[in-house]
Amino acid sequence: MSEQQPARILIAEDEANLRLVLQKELERLGYRVAAAPDGEAALRKLEESNVDVLLCDINMPRIDGMELLRRVHERPNPPEVIMLTGQATVETAVEAMKLGAYDYLTKPYRITELDVRVKQAADKRRLRVDNVRLREQLARQSALPEIVSVSEVMKEAIRLIERVAPSEASVLITGESGTGKELVAHAIHRLSNRADASFVDLNCAAFQESLLESELFGYEAGAFSGAKGRKLGLIELADGGTLFLDEVTELPAQLQAKLLRAIETRTFFRVGGVRKVEVNVRIVAATNRNLDNVVNDGTFRSDLLYRINGFQISLAPLRERPEDIEPLTRYLLKLIAGPHPPELTEEAFSALRAYNWPGNVRQLKNCLERAVILSNNGRITLSELPPEVTRPAVFIPAPVSSSDTAQPAEGVVSAAQSAPGSLREVERQQILAALEQTGWHRGKTAEILGISPSTLYRRLRDYELERRR
Ligand SMILES: Nc1ncnc2c1ncn2[C@@H]1O[C@H](COP(=O)(O)OP(=O)(O)OP(=O)(O)O)[C@@H](O)[C@H]1O
Ligand SMILES: [Mg+2]
Repeated sequence: MSEQQPARILIAEDEANLRLVLQKELERLGYRVAAAPDGEAALRKLEESNVDVLLCDINMPRIDGMELLRRVHERPNPPEVIMLTGQATVETAVEAMKLGAYDYLTKPYRITELDVRVKQAADKRRLRVDNVRLREQLARQSALPEIVSVSEVMKEAIRLIERVAPSEASVLITGESGTGKELVAHAIHRLSNRADASFVDLNCAAFQESLLESELFGYEAGAFSGAKGRKLGLIELADGGTLFLDEVTELPAQLQAKLLRAIETRTFFRVGGVRKVEVNVRIVAATNRNLDNVVNDGTFRSDLLYRINGFQISLAPLRERPEDIEPLTRYLLKLIAGPHPPELTEEAFSALRAYNWPGNVRQLKNCLERAVILSNNGRITLSELPPEVTRPAVFIPAPVSSSDTAQPAEGVVSAAQSAPGSLREVERQQILAALEQTGWHRGKTAEILGISPSTLYRRLRDYELERRR
């Protein structure tokens, strides 16, 4: 009780002296006290502020005590009511109890006695309010996409998510590709006080600079040739809600500066605009890069990093939490194949557990999707699992300039035994082949290669394959 706020009391009493004495005494006991000379004034005070306990005289001008009690109980989340009565109105007070008053006190009463009753009433109300809040919280949680977490590290991450979500702090989610960063970003939004407003996401690796700027900040008519009307940027569409900046470390330098200013001043200019626009967004960002590296090599501004890194949640790679593999597999199988998915044989399960999953949960999901399609007679055996899972090779780190990525090469380069100089070429050829195969459809290409679209975009830029040749 000691760390709680003092209970808030409202006294509705028409006798001025008595009202004043009561107020002073209750304040001396540590309560926060307001007072009203009649029922009408009391109702007004109840509109303006949150009251835990209403002390209610019975005979009052305008609206009397009994009527006030009735009206109070028509309101959502009413205070507990203690009736204050003279000898002549004891019977009325008993009647009031039947109408839902918490208690009554007959004048004259001792202040210690009043103190005890007020405390009990305040405690009762708090319990009631806590109950409502818990129920709401539960309802919200069940609306969450499930984040499977058995391992201590994932449970710890979930605890952090629950703690930070209701705050206004910006959050930076780090972790290898496929570890669940986007899932976590959604969870933070849904558990936040902004849950009813929009969640807008932007993949900062997916556009080239000028497009990215107008996506993010919008533009005014005539800002550039082709800009016929005004277009609202994602930052504006996220007003009141959450803006998720995925792959945030891929933002070009000029946009980093503009974003920093927008976050600091809570205002920004649309492209070609001269009028400042106000916004109120909460930033949640994600990256799979190593933060020290991107700051040290100058690709990411440290001041922007401090701004968005109010709170960091890092998601461990799947190989560091192998105990999550089995529950994730069961969960994903149901997601993919419905309530009665095919069953994995014990050998198949062992293979999944033993593999090191460089592409993390996304790779596990892809692998299971394939296995479900190939399964026979409701069973998934070793033969339905991809060769890299059943015959894992020695892992070879990414050969590209992404020495700063936090993750391994997601199995893109299986021919990695060749000399390092040609590895880039091997990867480039693989990507090119996949692009050709899909008619340069980026999404399908990423799927074939078993990498996330954002990783593909990064590679396309590295290899200057952004445009079809
Ligand atoms: N703990 C988890 N429980 C259930 N599903 C998960 C979990 N982690 C990841 N997933 C699922 O795995 C897939 C990949 O997750 P997500 O897209 O959030 O990863 P990411 O970290 O954003 O990857 P990238 O960096 O490549 O964008 C999604 O389908 C997601 O729902
Ligand atoms: Mg992602």
